[in-house]
Amino acid sequence: MRGRNALVTGATSGIGAETALGLARLGARVGVVGRDPARVAATLARIRSETGAEADSFVADLSEQAGVRRLAAEAGERYPALDILVNNAGAIFSERQVTADGFERTWALDHLAYVLLTHELMPRLAAAPSARIVNVASAAHTRGRIDFDDLDGARRFSAMGSYSQAKFGNVLFTYALARRLAGTRMTANAVHPGVVATGFAGNTHGLLNVAWRLIRPLLITPEKGARTSLHVATAPEVAGVNGRYFSRCRPVASSPLSRDEALQEKVWALSRRQVGIVD
Ligand SMILES: NC(=O)c1ccc[n+]([C@@H]2O[C@H](COP(=O)([O-])OP(=O)(O)OC[C@H]3O[C@@H](n4cnc5c(N)ncnc54)[C@H](OP(=O)(O)O)[C@@H]3O)[C@@H](O)[C@H]2O)c1
Repeated sequence: MRGRNALVTGATSGIGAETALGLARLGARVGVVGRDPARVAATLARIRSETGAEADSFVADLSEQAGVRRLAAEAGERYPALDILVNNAGAIFSERQVTADGFERTWALDHLAYVLLTHELMPRLAAAPSARIVNVASAAHTRGRIDFDDLDGARRFSAMGSYSQAKFGNVLFTYALARRLAGTRMTANAVHPGVVATGFAGNTHGLLNVAWRLIRPLLITPEKGARTSLHVATAPEVAGVNGRYFSRCRPVASSPLSRDEALQEKVWALSRRQVGIVD
């Protein structure tokens, strides 16, 4: 990975922090993206002390489209060629929240930010000798449905429903993107990291929070949770592999519904409209 540039969102905690650390250990120059300057600085200090590698800090709230665009501009300036993009930042919310752009927050952060950041960084990814885009999705996508009539949960909101919908969006987006990258030196794959003891669901309350606290001691460590992202981002045997869904470092089948090309295209077009991309 020496001489390669990598950008990891949600790198201040959990799976993203271990992914950034793992990439730095392998010699990549890593861009650490977080929303809190102090947590970004702490992650940078950890990378430097544990690997001796240089890393760069980027602060952005990725649930706001202006934040995503600003991050892309800053990262694009720092990395004229970007070899690895790990779209990882995500969260689940107990209550329905609406972002400044007018979208339900789970959809905005867990899905639309992946779409917009990838689009904005495409020229930098295309400038690399070969580039890998890793979208951290979830096995929760198997329960996901895209509710075109109530995407924002305005009529009926459920935390798990919105989360599963956004993670399903990640998988659909990955396949639609991969189709467009075929024949280029860029690839896009989706990942299920496992069920991992991270800060995830830390901002929730009620039953969701209680359930998360109860199962947390039984879950795999963030270090193990980062293994599939790192594998897909760096393993030589994954070079050229495009449009697959990985779990436990192996390509596996995603849900039957996620293979629906018409649905992939519908969500691709909708998501791009929602982030203001004019095709
Ligand atoms: N944990 C699991 O079992 C599991 C299973 C399947 C998939 N996943 C996926 O794995 C990814 C990482 O989650 P995790 O489990 O590692 O959770 P985590 O420990 O809570 O880490 C989430 C990261 O996203 C960042 N983030 C949250 N909101 C943000 C915002 N508005 N703008 C920018 N960054 C923001 C967080 O920053 P702060 O440090 O500031 O909070 C943190 O760095 C997510 O996409 C999640 O859906 C997790």
